[in-house]
Amino acid sequence: MGEIPMKSVDDLRSRRWFGPADLRSFGHRSRAKQMGWDSKDWEGKPIIAILNTWSDLNTCHTHFRIVAEQVKKGVLQAGGLPVEMPVMSLGEIYTKPTSMLYRNFLAMEAEETLRCHPVDGAVLLGGCDKTTPALLMGAFSMDIPVVYVPGGPMLRGNWRGEVLGSGSDVWKYWDEKRAGNITEDDWSEIEDGIARSPGHCMTMGTASTMTAVAEALGFSLPGASSIPASDSNHTRMAVQSGRLAVEIVWQDRRPSQIATKEAFENAIVTDMAIGGSTNAIVHLVAMAGRAGLSLPLETFDDISQRVPLILDVRPSGRFLMEDFYYAGGLRALLKELEPHLHLNCLTVNGRTLGENIVSAEVHNREVIRPLDKPVSKAGGTAVLRGNLAPNGAVIKQTAADPQFWQHTGPAVVFKDYNDLAARIDDPELPVTKDSVIVLQNAGPIGAPGMPEWGMLPIPKKLLEQGVRDMVRVSDARMSGTSYGTCVLHVSPESAVGGPLALLRDGDAITLDIPGRSFSVALTEAEFEARRAAWQAPPPHYERGYGKLYLDHVTQAEQGCDFDFLHGKPASVPEPEIH
Ligand code: FES
Repeated sequence: MGEIPMKSVDDLRSRRWFGPADLRSFGHRSRAKQMGWDSKDWEGKPIIAILNTWSDLNTCHTHFRIVAEQVKKGVLQAGGLPVEMPVMSLGEIYTKPTSMLYRNFLAMEAEETLRCHPVDGAVLLGGCDKTTPALLMGAFSMDIPVVYVPGGPMLRGNWRGEVLGSGSDVWKYWDEKRAGNITEDDWSEIEDGIARSPGHCMTMGTASTMTAVAEALGFSLPGASSIPASDSNHTRMAVQSGRLAVEIVWQDRRPSQIATKEAFENAIVTDMAIGGSTNAIVHLVAMAGRAGLSLPLETFDDISQRVPLILDVRPSGRFLMEDFYYAGGLRALLKELEPHLHLNCLTVNGRTLGENIVSAEVHNREVIRPLDKPVSKAGGTAVLRGNLAPNGAVIKQTAADPQFWQHTGPAVVFKDYNDLAARIDDPELPVTKDSVIVLQNAGPIGAPGMPEWGMLPIPKKLLEQGVRDMVRVSDARMSGTSYGTCVLHVSPESAVGGPLALLRDGDAITLDIPGRSFSVALTEAEFEARRAAWQAPPPHYERGYGKLYLDHVTQAEQGCDFDFLHGKPASVPEPEIH
């Protein structure tokens, strides 16, 4: 890599607040002293913001106040001044109607928090699904040096000696309960054992996917994303990240030097090899947009067709993140993937991706498979097009029953989530195992917020017959911990008049994953007649953030970012200091 110039003290961004001999800087310094700081705390030192997504209502970030202290230790060791700054915590579990509605909110908050304060660099503390893309989107737009510290997965769940995975086993045992195969007491015991330590979901859900992707992009220390939250190696990684944040300020190593087209391709290769969440597509498109790059859906499909799934972790496989860590973690997986990676990409520690994985080894070949003995030859995700999804749809093929990879069946249509909830278990519902269940109005605008409703429930009467998968279709997303033959992200969404809105019960829908198509047997004239009769649903919001969201959110294939935030600014606008 080329030499990166060192910054001088006078180049520090925070000097604009603390350096000048004027009245305004007097105010900044005297108020720093109000907080008990001494000029020795800041003179000649980079100020490192620790953007902390902790809150009492983020289940996955309960340890983040402790992690922030560990990062501070590292910043102080390296001669910086750490300042902890809270930003929206955005936990999946309690944020309604869906955390996706607020991903762009956190991205904006992260960017503006960095912009309006005297900070020279930042450590970003995230993990639970949307926090990783949101923090990085904000950092890319602000373009000051950042290190991403992933919160780490929780330990394996346990029920009577059986390993439980978050999300995946919730859906599995919920279906067994609905089918009458487990008792209320069993269900209560599962509730006690499925999430038993700090950390994010320990399946290859969106959190584990996005933290792996952030590391593959080059924004975390090598191996960081696989370390369980409660492992002491996580502590050392956090301290080391604090030290690194100071170093990269002096080196002026900014996101724009790391988040290149090749780095995004590495991220997608990783996503496919780990069987990552379909949500990663929406997030990566949005993140790339902030870096001024375009990622068409076909890029994901191309990479999916040549990169096999080699990680045997649920929901596409058998193991959990803890097993992945003991098997060598992401470094070992990337080592296996070397032929598919751009190894000369710069990463946040100043070394290339190739240098970071040079000594990595796989310790368990059951968990991380060799390229020539993959879990599945096809990568995790396929992109579909056709008259039902002119702008694209996606499916996690590795989580779908192969009997449905090519399937035609009659539609059973639900006009929204409430309609689905009211009728899905009706014994009179005209549905068979060959039907295609369709949910309308579940997209970015229609739901709103494109929630994770995409793993539509199997009707109870079919569950009782032993049916555990069938073709399901929506413009929603799906939790990364979910599974099944679920066509997702259908675009344009039904709420803006996409073809999905025009479907009726009995329409013959064809899914062809190998052929990458998704269509309905309707003529253009029939489409036109239905379109003429279609009426847009009323907007969900008339004011506030919701209104801003509805007015500016883009469709799934554009990443669902706000249109006015997309793109890389020609220069990073700095606040006037008066
Ligand atoms: Fe936070 Fe799953 S709920 S990662």
